[in-house]
Amino acid sequence: MKSSPSANQLLEWHKKNKDKEACITTAEGIPVVGATSSITVGKHGPIVLYDWNLLEKLGHFARERIPERVAHAKGSAAFGYFEVTNDITKYTTSKVFEKIGKKTPVALRFSRVVGSLGAADTDLDPRGFAIKFYTDEGIWDIVGNNTPIFFIRDPALFPSFIRSQRPNPATNLRDWNQYWDFISLRHECAHQTLILFSDRGLPKSYRHMHGFGSHTFSFVDENKKLTYCKFHIKTNQGIKNLSPSKAKQIAGEDPNYYGRDLYDAIEKKDFPSWTFYVQLMKPEEAKFKNFDPFDITKVWPHKENPLIKVGKIVLNKNPSNYFAEVEQLAFSPSNITQGIWISPDRFLQGRLFAYPDAHRHRLGVNYTQLPVNSPFKASNYLRDGIATIENQGGAPNYYPNSFGGPVECPTNYPAPLQVSGEVGHYDTGKTEDNYTQARIFYNKVLDGPARSRLEDNLVSTIKYVTSEKVKMNLLQMFTLVDTDLGNNLKDKLRALNTTHEDGLRN
Ligand code: NDP
Ligand code: HEM
Repeated sequence: MKSSPSANQLLEWHKKNKDKEACITTAEGIPVVGATSSITVGKHGPIVLYDWNLLEKLGHFARERIPERVAHAKGSAAFGYFEVTNDITKYTTSKVFEKIGKKTPVALRFSRVVGSLGAADTDLDPRGFAIKFYTDEGIWDIVGNNTPIFFIRDPALFPSFIRSQRPNPATNLRDWNQYWDFISLRHECAHQTLILFSDRGLPKSYRHMHGFGSHTFSFVDENKKLTYCKFHIKTNQGIKNLSPSKAKQIAGEDPNYYGRDLYDAIEKKDFPSWTFYVQLMKPEEAKFKNFDPFDITKVWPHKENPLIKVGKIVLNKNPSNYFAEVEQLAFSPSNITQGIWISPDRFLQGRLFAYPDAHRHRLGVNYTQLPVNSPFKASNYLRDGIATIENQGGAPNYYPNSFGGPVECPTNYPAPLQVSGEVGHYDTGKTEDNYTQARIFYNKVLDGPARSRLEDNLVSTIKYVTSEKVKMNLLQMFTLVDTDLGNNLKDKLRALNTTHEDGLRN
């Protein structure tokens, strides 16, 4: 710890500032006395109302926390750049990919999904991997995870899915019945569940894991032609993982282990980096795939759509004000700049609404005026509301107008998406293939020892399920993925021969 930059932050600050002693002031800059006592009538008397310094201190304190993110509350972030290393300008007009060597500043926030702000970094959970590109044309966000896929494919299920993973609302405790119940009833979860409980579910640090856009997006070329694409951001530090027992030990000793690792690496100038790849698919090809290429529970096999190297991401700067630059950092898949576009992925479409809505609740309607969210001078007709800073220099606040206010920008017209079909509810839970890719992962990607570790990891929490019905449904799901997997899980659960009261809880 002694050599850890994060442990010495205050010492460093003092070194730099020791000759600059400053007076305490109120927030309005008025020098104050009485930093350690309130104003009272005599030594034992009551406090007077004109002690506005005390009122400011207490009033500010009561308001210095905001709602945490409803998902991905616990996280850490850093800043750096994306640099183009290979040319893909024939697929996209995005200025980010304009020419080899071009650098675009980025913010990257890592997180875990269900833990609250105080949760331990090293618990089993998917990790968020959200990148904000400060492009020449506004903000582009990739709000992905460290897994190439997700559990479910319809936004209608997302709130229930997240609730099933959070504490039981009656006991406020993690409830393995509800956790596994949801998964056992929605077999599209099988693929992501296997990936999560495999070795990569417990990365050694944020630096040692990949990131993925997960959804299918589109590139748009200069003729407005679409090419569907997926984003893969692969770690240059190498994949490294923790064993479940090591992860549990660290969770107890240092719940901020990943955050500390990231901060210290950057302060020591050991800048972490990732190589940025894309997979591409022509719309004609998408029509003939034997799986739905817009289904977020599926990958695009590398053999059919190989990875194409595009650039690299380097993180070289820590935030200096965590609250302003990370707690108030607001990502959204709807932040998409020209040359890049959405796709027919319905899960992605659900997210386009959810994030700006969450930010207006969490940070207020003017969250885009916070410098970390948009360092650009906006040019639009949004005005006023709580915490307004900008008035756009007195430009008109209505449109159309005759006074030279900003006008529409035809270059950013959405690319045409061709759709047809009957409006209705289409529950894809049982109509899609939920097992083939999960089976390939279990049988072909993992070797024997990795399969065994995956099964042990699954069993380590399934053993807490007290509902026989849930256990049965779950084992049925895993058997449909692969008979050996189902049988091995049954055997391992039987062998445990444990009651639910063995004292180990997660
Ligand atoms: P490939 O053999 O070309 O690729 C296998 C992929 O699996 C590699 O990207 C590898 O990552 C990754 N991988 C290895 N171990 C794990 C793990 N424990 N957790 C997550 N990913 C892991 O096969 P295909 O492209 O045909 O895909 C086969 C299966 O691999 C898929 O069904 C899917 O489950 C999994 N996969 C596929 C990805 C894709 O985009 N096609 C991406 C990630 C996983 P690395 O190269 O870093 O070792
Ligand atoms: C955070 C909703 C699916 C990755 C959030 C937040 C909400 C949300 C409301 C909190 C935002 C905030 O307060 O700042 C949803 C909904 C989804 C969905 C409704 C599906 C319909 C996904 C998927 C991924 C993902 C599929 C990854 C592939 C993230 C990440 C964050 C996040 C990384 C944290 C961003 C940050 O670091 O600030 N999500 N989410 N989400 N979500 Fe989702």
